[in-house]
Amino acid sequence: MPTDPLQDIVAHYQEVDEDARLRTGCFQLEFARTKELILRHLPQMPAVVADVGGASGNYSFWLARLGYRVHLVDPVPKHIEQATRACDLQRDQPLASVRLGDARKLDFADESVDAVLLLGPLYHLTDRNDRLACLREAQRILRQEGVIFAAGISRFASLLAALHDDLLGEPEFAAILERDLREGQHRNDTGNPLYFTTAYFHRPSELAEEVMESGLGLLEVLPVEGPGWLAKEFDRLWASQEQRQRLMRCIRQVENEEELIGVSAHLLAIARKQTITGAGASKSL
Ligand SMILES: C[S@@+](CC[C@H](N)C(=O)[O-])C[C@H]1O[C@@H](n2cnc3c(N)ncnc32)[C@H](O)[C@@H]1O
Repeated sequence: MPTDPLQDIVAHYQEVDEDARLRTGCFQLEFARTKELILRHLPQMPAVVADVGGASGNYSFWLARLGYRVHLVDPVPKHIEQATRACDLQRDQPLASVRLGDARKLDFADESVDAVLLLGPLYHLTDRNDRLACLREAQRILRQEGVIFAAGISRFASLLAALHDDLLGEPEFAAILERDLREGQHRNDTGNPLYFTTAYFHRPSELAEEVMESGLGLLEVLPVEGPGWLAKEFDRLWASQEQRQRLMRCIRQVENEEELIGVSAHLLAIARKQTITGAGASKSL
């Protein structure tokens, strides 16, 4: 009997502080770059956004402050409680709704939103059919020409993290890493939440293929952090405005180097709901 993929996810996020993650270390770069890439393609206001897998709402509250009407969905009760509490702190620009839900079956009407953020579900769904179901569901709720931002984790992220964090000598991590590189299937039976939880790690081309197979019109797959997350002393670099801006400029400069995309910890696929299906509407990598 197949187990529910959400069981491991809920248990993992019960243990870790996902709410604080984007405010620490190189995750600050992930946050800054993801926001930058979203703003390049987000429809003009007024517009409705579904933040699916939005956790406690870091992106949702940011977009609400910009004036978007944002619905947050996540399957982890702890995240929904945190987001509900945070709504009280942002009463002047509240979220439109906060609800428990699964990206594979969304409680939204057809063609009811202008943009969907899928910054999490695709790398937590280990079965390709589930990932396609999730992309098709996002497409169903999108209005014509609506945009989807779908994050993946790079197939090579564990190897680069192991080198950066000196984990290659850890036998437990070595076994996880070997499977990550071989199949992209990340499993962590060690009980150490630092090694993340059940996930699937994409090659950039695979993420592109899945998005196109779902029927969405792929615009591009971009590296989020690029090589920037590997900076030797990230916190010191990020604390300097000058170095931070230089880092952001360098990442932008190489973001279209296809040979370098997989070096980024996170990948971001940006796609549009197509009015006309058929040849010529999508770009392949
Ligand atoms: C690493 S967190 C990312 C949170 C936030 N979107 C961000 O990018 O910082 C991944 C999120 O995806 C959510 N998630 C995992 N599987 C999901 C699914 N099937 N449907 C909706 N959300 C899911 C998790 O609960 C978690 O909040």
